[in-house]
Amino acid sequence: CPEMAFPSPEREQWSSRLGFVLAAAGSAIGLGNIWRFPFKAGDNGGGAFVLIYLACLLLLCVPYLFAELALGRNSKRNPVGAIRAIRGHSLWSLVGGLCVVTGLAIFSYYAVVAGWAVGYVFRDLTAAGASGAAFAQFIADPLWVVPLFGGFLVATAGVVAQGVRRGIERWAKILMPVLFVLLCLIAFRAVTLPGAGAGLEFYLTPDFSQVSGLMVVEALGQAFFSLSLGMGTMITYGSYLPDDENLVVAGGYVAVFDTLIALMAGLMIFPAVFAMGQNPAEGPSLVFVVLPDVFGAMPLGSFVGTLFFLFLAIAAFTSGISLLEVFVSYLVDETAWSRRTAAWGAGGVAFVIGLPSALSQGAVPALSDLSWLVGDRLLGPAPGVLDVVDFLWGSVALVLSAALLSVFVGWVWDADDALDELRTGDGHAMGRWVGPVWRAAIKYAFPATILTVLVVDLLYGVL
Ligand code: PFF
Repeated sequence: CPEMAFPSPEREQWSSRLGFVLAAAGSAIGLGNIWRFPFKAGDNGGGAFVLIYLACLLLLCVPYLFAELALGRNSKRNPVGAIRAIRGHSLWSLVGGLCVVTGLAIFSYYAVVAGWAVGYVFRDLTAAGASGAAFAQFIADPLWVVPLFGGFLVATAGVVAQGVRRGIERWAKILMPVLFVLLCLIAFRAVTLPGAGAGLEFYLTPDFSQVSGLMVVEALGQAFFSLSLGMGTMITYGSYLPDDENLVVAGGYVAVFDTLIALMAGLMIFPAVFAMGQNPAEGPSLVFVVLPDVFGAMPLGSFVGTLFFLFLAIAAFTSGISLLEVFVSYLVDETAWSRRTAAWGAGGVAFVIGLPSALSQGAVPALSDLSWLVGDRLLGPAPGVLDVVDFLWGSVALVLSAALLSVFVGWVWDADDALDELRTGDGHAMGRWVGPVWRAAIKYAFPATILTVLVVDLLYGVL
């Protein structure tokens, strides 16, 4: 029989709506917005990708965000506990388990890339024209990469160990305003560079001849990753919300902030890239290689570069906190571990499983090229550990657990109960028209679309 969904008496809650919105926006805004969104947009022709991204966000991701928040707030539990609270002990708990494990796995390599951003704050790698070589050398050097990765883990675990209010919320309240100010400064510098107009045009004028099926898949995947969906982060953060909170309004703020920052990240990157005569379709190296070149060539570039990587590191930090929190909340709810022990224990495990990713960028050649293990892919070069874990966890596991979670909310918990949860709380939410549309989206449209994405992703990744 289903377990009663009562919160444990000592379960913490956010102190206010602002606290939740900043913490959840902190989770959503991260490497995904600043590193991944611009390069995906750049690779996919700019403006058209941006429009499709916005459509995916509005039509699929935001409705699904509400489902995760409703599940979390209703059960007041971590993803595994939330599913158990509704369905009792059943195979569905494995879906919660998948979320929790995915969170820790993504955290393990997210911290590696975050460590690079931190390193760029301290090292001036803006030698104009030579950034590619400097970057390759930097990420291959274990004496830099491992301490930065470990340091990032220690800082994250330290915040999570302090708890929901004193740790996660307090740091979000300090860091998110700093983030916003830095972003405005850098965007201002970028759009006032001579020649920035071409970048603005590329970014803001959609060229629909570029649209393809794969681009839609990419845009959806990106919208997903960016809103921190599919791995229980929003279930967990939602579980700390009080019953009188209006989930639709609170979740809406998070989506708006996340989107705003992603759009502004493009606004600071493309004008600068075009003004300095660089190529916007450089893929993942856009931020770590092309931008340092851009900074190297602009007045005040080294200072702006430091600000930019500080910005990136802070954004990654608040996201890393939420990734770790999923696993920690699971341990705190389901075992006798204290939060402190859980946070440091989970951080330690992330270090061990993330180490191969950290060493896979040249430090250990066998990890950089896994062709000895997985064979050569039909297309493209043999992947390294970081590519493989990002694909498995960041693309496949994330999307798979989102599809399963939406089936759970729509069919097992039942969309009507979820809708009731969304209508609980102060103010008006999910009225006569919007409610049924949401219900249909979560029951049919979402699982169907996501499964399509998964199949395309798998075919594309494996081929
Ligand atoms: N949303 C984060 C970003 O855009 O960088 C990444 C992320 C954080 C994904 C937390 C998933 C998650 F649960």
